[in-house]
Amino acid sequence: MQLFLDTANMNDIGNGIAVGCIRGVTTNPTIISREGRSLKVCIEEIVQLDPELTVLIEVVSVDTAGQVAEARELIKLAPNAVIKIPMTGNGLAAVRLLSAEGIPTAVTLVFSVNQAIAAVCAGANYIAPFVGRLDDIGADGLSLVRSIKNVLNQHDSDVQIISASVRSPQAVADLFAAGSDIVTIPFSVLEKMLLHPLTDAGLLKFEEDWKSVPQQVATG
Ligand code: E4P
Repeated sequence: MQLFLDTANMNDIGNGIAVGCIRGVTTNPTIISREGRSLKVCIEEIVQLDPELTVLIEVVSVDTAGQVAEARELIKLAPNAVIKIPMTGNGLAAVRLLSAEGIPTAVTLVFSVNQAIAAVCAGANYIAPFVGRLDDIGADGLSLVRSIKNVLNQHDSDVQIISASVRSPQAVADLFAAGSDIVTIPFSVLEKMLLHPLTDAGLLKFEEDWKSVPQQVATG
């Protein structure tokens, strides 16, 4: 069970690492475009912060040859890089070729069980269903993850599900309960996951009660 951060923002990644429960970072062209720096610089900064992070980096080419050529360069940017390839016929052909070269891939923009099956059969190491975007159109992202997990389990597959497009702490809990191996989240969701009013109240009471405990006097 692993939590990743779905951002290339250095403040958010630094704060997430400091909390101690983040093992990877997912990026995409939209996420990189928010940072005002090149993809290469963004990834280098992430690696400097923590070289052990798994870092998902997405290709932008739409043709197989272009995707493979990009992937061969992107994989050099981080020790634990995984190349994100969009869920298209061209993308799956690239996944097949990259798999033969030992380059790990994550098929992204997955919205159906059939797409997940095709990605697994092409040789993907990870598949990334976009949960929130399905919910946005009145579909059920959680059910999709549950269904994909059932299929993977039926076939003893070690392909990992990275649930993406996650907007709430409740979704995180539901997705792990549904069998998601990894859930990637914005830092704002991580912050909310840590909070509970009873934790705050309990901590206050501990602090208050401690004041009535006689403190040991130092002896000389
Ligand atoms: C992750 O890698 C996805 O690109 C991301 O979670 C998409 O999230 P969004 O639907 O909030 O843009």
